[in-house]
Amino acid sequence: MGKQQSFYITTPLYYVNDRPHIGSAYTTLITDIISKYHRMLGDDVFFLTGTDEHGQKVQQAADKNGISPAEHCDIYAKRFQELWSYFNLSYDDFIRTTEERHIKVVQHVLQMLYDKGEIYKDSYEGWYSVADELFISDKDYEEGKYRDVRRISESNYYFKMSAYQDRLIKYIHEHPDYIQPENRKNEILGFLKHPLKDLCISRPKERLSWGIELPFDKDYVTYVWFDALLNYITAAGYLSDEKKFRTYWPAVHLIGKDILTTHCVYWPTMLMAADLPLPRTVFAHGWWTSEGQKMSKSLGNFVDLETIQMHCENVGKDMYRYFMAKEGPLFSDSDFSKERFYQTYNTDLANDFGNLVNRIFKLVGKFYEGKIPSPGVFSADEKDMKEAAEACRKNAFEHLSDLNINALCAAVIQYVTSINRYLEKKEPWKTAKTDPDTAATVLYTALASLRFSASLLYPLLPEKMTEFFTMLNCGDEPGKIAEWRDLPTGVRLGEMKALFPRFDMTQLENM
Ligand code: MSP
Repeated sequence: MGKQQSFYITTPLYYVNDRPHIGSAYTTLITDIISKYHRMLGDDVFFLTGTDEHGQKVQQAADKNGISPAEHCDIYAKRFQELWSYFNLSYDDFIRTTEERHIKVVQHVLQMLYDKGEIYKDSYEGWYSVADELFISDKDYEEGKYRDVRRISESNYYFKMSAYQDRLIKYIHEHPDYIQPENRKNEILGFLKHPLKDLCISRPKERLSWGIELPFDKDYVTYVWFDALLNYITAAGYLSDEKKFRTYWPAVHLIGKDILTTHCVYWPTMLMAADLPLPRTVFAHGWWTSEGQKMSKSLGNFVDLETIQMHCENVGKDMYRYFMAKEGPLFSDSDFSKERFYQTYNTDLANDFGNLVNRIFKLVGKFYEGKIPSPGVFSADEKDMKEAAEACRKNAFEHLSDLNINALCAAVIQYVTSINRYLEKKEPWKTAKTDPDTAATVLYTALASLRFSASLLYPLLPEKMTEFFTMLNCGDEPGKIAEWRDLPTGVRLGEMKALFPRFDMTQLENM
């Protein structure tokens, strides 16, 4: 076996001013799926998620509820953690930006950059969007792009971001994997055609007090993005555990397309100024729309996670992560609709995988006393199934390295369909009486192929595939095998359960 590779992957830190919805769960589920595949490969995975807890919006939300910002954050961080546990996420760390370990890192980096002359104080008069917590240009103001805009005049601290423009462009050209997919990279290169401004990294305490105090000026707190981005190195052990930091950093960041600039311009220039390596990859996915429309508060069409949990009651919670993986907006936007959700369930899981399991188990029960039969000589068809499995595995892991989970999922389900085709062709229900040797070979091959596909499906359907391995009764550890392997013959199959009972689409009318 080759040397174990370390693999550090992160989600964005979620704001604690809104209820989690399908969008916030998407990145986290995809990250979990990617992590599980890397664990299967034997990699040393570090999967990080958490909450972004400072800033004006949190302060406002807490004021509205008549509680302190700290209490407000505790309630929301717990809500996220409970949801992630419902969806069986196995993250290694959950960071909250209000934690002491993080505050220490933010203040250290600020002081270091200040001492190096990378941060300076200046006065500003111009437009500020209170809702977005951003200083905006006259042009943005005139175009009415931002909400709740005020004219303000104040002194603040600035990070010399503009000094890194040429270095950043060169870096992006020299590291083709750094920003993915290609269209997002082009978006950033387009953005960098215009002169880069310095970044305002402070807010006066008189206007906002819920933030990390600047170590060199007690009248200011840190701008929430400058604070939040640093979480990725805090959790990796920067300042606290040098060995861990050397092992895991740099990370792969999975984010949504709306936070591309902060991750691909602010963050790398901050790291350059701090003399730290840049992230391995920033992958920005598209957005979920809902029943054909952009989700927005004003339309009231957010698909919240309570609704998803209700659907999961009908078809099992694995289905949500499967749907996210198969149909999710990795490269462009995708639409969430109930019809599509249940249709995908019926087609891929009930008709394909579920049916296959029922059929094979029933036949083994009927003709071989429920025990895995010994195969005879493999014909070209059996060899084809084995070779196709190898090709599918190779394909799947190639898609994994491109972070193309849509294609990975499609490749595995295609193999499941090919097992169905193989059975149809060989008709073991007919040959079992006339040619039991051949029927035994076919059922053995179908079971081994099913076991292979279940191992590749595990990160997408962890609960159901764990149940499947229990039914198979061959002592497999879920999440481990990912090859077509010989089966122990004579083993009695476990009790058969309907893993994916068909969903009656007429029920949709009452939902
Ligand atoms: N707190 C910042 C991130 C700081 S990272 C150091 C933030 N938080 S957020 O809660 O507003 O958004 C988190 C993620 O949810 C973003 O990646 C965003 O793209 C994603 N989504 C929010 N709505 C979405 C959809 N409708 N569809 C898919 N993902 C979307 O930004």
